[in-house]
Amino acid sequence: MKTKVSPSILSADFAYLAQDCKKVMDAGADMLHIDVMDGSFVPNISLGLPVVKSLRKASDAFFDVHLMIDKPHLYAKAFCDAGADLVSFHLESDSDVMETINIIKACGKQAGIVIKPGTPSAEVYPYLDKVDLVLVMSVEPGFGGQKFMPVAVDKIARIHGKAKEMGLDNLMIEVDGGINEQTGAMCRLAGANVLVAGSYVFGAEDVADAISKLKA
Ligand code: DX5
Ligand code: ZN
Repeated sequence: MKTKVSPSILSADFAYLAQDCKKVMDAGADMLHIDVMDGSFVPNISLGLPVVKSLRKASDAFFDVHLMIDKPHLYAKAFCDAGADLVSFHLESDSDVMETINIIKACGKQAGIVIKPGTPSAEVYPYLDKVDLVLVMSVEPGFGGQKFMPVAVDKIARIHGKAKEMGLDNLMIEVDGGINEQTGAMCRLAGANVLVAGSYVFGAEDVADAISKLKA
């Protein structure tokens, strides 16, 4: 699978969100990574349903929504209805995993499962054939601009190996946190095919160049 780049809009200028999103999509991004934080599951608050709904009207990009919230099963449908194309939620959250996957799938949207740096990769194996994407966090969720945690590389390799063994050639393996040209290359080598990058892409002087370096 060709490497896809999903810029995290957490690093965009929220006063000019639609323009910033257009800028990264025009520069070669494949989708938009939308980080939703509730101040409880993670110690930060970012954006919610009204922003996704408004942005949907302003952009036809693929919306890769990363829920960092408690009780994701209660909100998954609302995010699908607001315009998400893919909804990912944390395995560590307090919702039933299969129930939440089924809610997203029933909306006709893609489902993803996310694990934090401290959660072993084997915990997602039972769901690999139930989801479209596995997101391996390479920082503790909550903030952009943190340093990449190398533990993610081995976890990606294990999940990639398991997916191969199971014949899941279309599974997307995404990595999120501290991704730049170097760390992105390490993750791609290990089997990641979707790279999330916030500060690296939005902070770049030449956004198209930054995105093409992630894919190169
Ligand atoms: C962190 C978020 C990330 C974050 C990535 O909780 O899930 O998507 O915005 O930002 P960078 O690429 O700057 O580490
Ligand atoms: Zn994210």
